[in-house]
Amino acid sequence: MNVTVAKSAGFCFGVKRAVNKVYEQADIKRGPIYTYGPIIHNEEVVKDLEEKGVQVLHDLDELTDEQKKKGGTVIIRSHGVSKEVYESLAQCGFEIEDATCPFVLKIHQIVEEFSNDGYEIVIIGSSSHPEVEGIRGWCDPGHTTVIADQKEAENYKPESGKKVCIVAQTTFNYKKFQELVEIIQKKGYIRDIRVLNTICNATEERQNEAASLAETSDIMIVIGGRSSSNTQKLYEICKEECANTYYIQTVADLHLSETGHIDNVGITAGASTPKKIIEEVQKYVRTEL
Ligand code: F3S
Repeated sequence: MNVTVAKSAGFCFGVKRAVNKVYEQADIKRGPIYTYGPIIHNEEVVKDLEEKGVQVLHDLDELTDEQKKKGGTVIIRSHGVSKEVYESLAQCGFEIEDATCPFVLKIHQIVEEFSNDGYEIVIIGSSSHPEVEGIRGWCDPGHTTVIADQKEAENYKPESGKKVCIVAQTTFNYKKFQELVEIIQKKGYIRDIRVLNTICNATEERQNEAASLAETSDIMIVIGGRSSSNTQKLYEICKEECANTYYIQTVADLHLSETGHIDNVGITAGASTPKKIIEEVQKYVRTEL
C-alpha cells in the first residue's frame, strides 16, 4: 500500500517561518514573550507555546502597568500589523520580532508608496481579516476602501479624477479578484488604475496538489480544524475526486471503514495543521491499515 502525504500539506512558508520564530524566541529569551494575536489558529500549538511561557497579546490595552514596565519581546505574526501597532509597541519599550510574511510586507510597501503618490487604495479582501486590517494601516485612511464582493465593487465610487491602486489579500480567490477588478475598471471616470495581483499561490498550490492526489487515491484523508475554511475547501475538492474522503482533526477521529482492496492512500492538511499531527496520521495509516 502506498501512503502519500502532499508536499504542500499543512503550514505554508510564511506560517512555518512565524511558528519557528516563536519557538526559537521561547528557547533563547529570558524576559516575557508575547505574540501579537494567536500565532496560528490551532489551539494545540497556542497551548504548547503557553506552556513555554509565550502569551497571546490581543491589544496593548490589555497590559497592566506592571507588565508594561517589565517590557519583553513581542512577535508579529505572519499576517502583519499596521504601522501604528509597530510604533505603539516600540513606544512601550518592547523589542519587536517581526515574523510578518515577506509577501505581506511587500503589500505594505506597495500601498504605502502608492498612497504617498496620491493614489486611492482598494484592498480586495475581507475587512475584518487581520491581514487586511494591517494593510489598511499602511495607507492614507481617508482614501482606502476594502471590497469583498460583487455588490461592494458595484457600489464603490472612487473620487472623481483620482488615481486608484488595487491590491488583494494574499489568500483571496484569483478568479473572484479578476471579476471584482473588472467591475471597478468599467467605471469610466478613473484617471489611472494600477492593479497589483498580490495573491499568494500557496493556497492554490495546496488545492491543486490535493485534487491530483485524491484522483489517484482509494482513500483520501484531509486533516484540519472543523472551523478552518481552507480545510473545508480542501475536503470539498478531494471529495469530488475521491468518494472515500475523510475529514479529521487528529488521528483520534480516524475510523476507516473501507473493506475492499486499498492500494493508495493520500493525505493532505489545512494551513494551520502542525507537522506532528500529519505525521501521527501517516504513522497510523501505515501501521493499522
Ligand atoms: Fe502563507 Fe505568506 Fe502566502 S503567510 S499564504 S506564504 S502570503
